[in-house]
Amino acid sequence: MNESAEVPNTLVITPSILYYGTPVLLLTTRNEDGTVNITPLSSSWALGDRVVLGLGTSGQGFENVQREREVVLNIPDASLWRHVERLAPYTGKTPVPEAKRRIGFQYEPDKFGQADLCPVPSSLVKPDRIAECPLQIEAAVRHIRIPDDAPHFAIVETEALRVHAHADLLIGDRHIDPTQWQPLIYNFRHYYGLGEALGKTFRAER
Ligand SMILES: Cc1cc2nc3c(=O)[nH]c(=O)nc-3n(C[C@H](O)[C@H](O)[C@H](O)COP(=O)(O)O)c2cc1C
Repeated sequence: MNESAEVPNTLVITPSILYYGTPVLLLTTRNEDGTVNITPLSSSWALGDRVVLGLGTSGQGFENVQREREVVLNIPDASLWRHVERLAPYTGKTPVPEAKRRIGFQYEPDKFGQADLCPVPSSLVKPDRIAECPLQIEAAVRHIRIPDDAPHFAIVETEALRVHAHADLLIGDRHIDPTQWQPLIYNFRHYYGLGEALGKTFRAER
């Protein structure tokens, strides 16, 4: 470890992981046989109606995204973390890719059953939504880029087509109430909720 130039008490490190705390989402995609897969993700960001995902290219989710070009981004709240974790050691891909098999992943075709979650039909895309997730975003896949120097991950750009929200989260018909919405945060491979509110930006409605 080296001292970080000119900043006291700061070191240059090579972190084992770099998941610095982003919301979990459960990506539902349609398998070739018409069943639905669930892929837990934490690499995403939203800007306007675009949501960009970081998706491993060896998984079933990526295979489905490439073929079907339709997804649902189901956003669990903090209370659902055990359901998410029940999916963690599984892949919908068979045979299980070697790199995943080595670290103990197993094949699971019934992700809804495994996680004890309920499918509900979507209105604009083929994959089902997850009823328990307070936010469910039906989306179309617009671009997929696999970096030449990092082919294990794809950058998947989606366009939100329809957003479903549990009614108890809403202020009026357009705003999510931040005092009610508790995203599930993946913080260096540990699950967290949110702490107390710190303040709000000048454009916040509350
Ligand atoms: C909380 C959580 C967050 C994860 N975040 C990501 C992610 O952002 N991108 C990714 O490719 N895999 C991520 N994973 C790993 C995938 O969920 C895992 O590779 C899974 O086996 C993929 O399932 P599939 O092959 O059925 O699509 C995450 C797993 C968990 C439990």
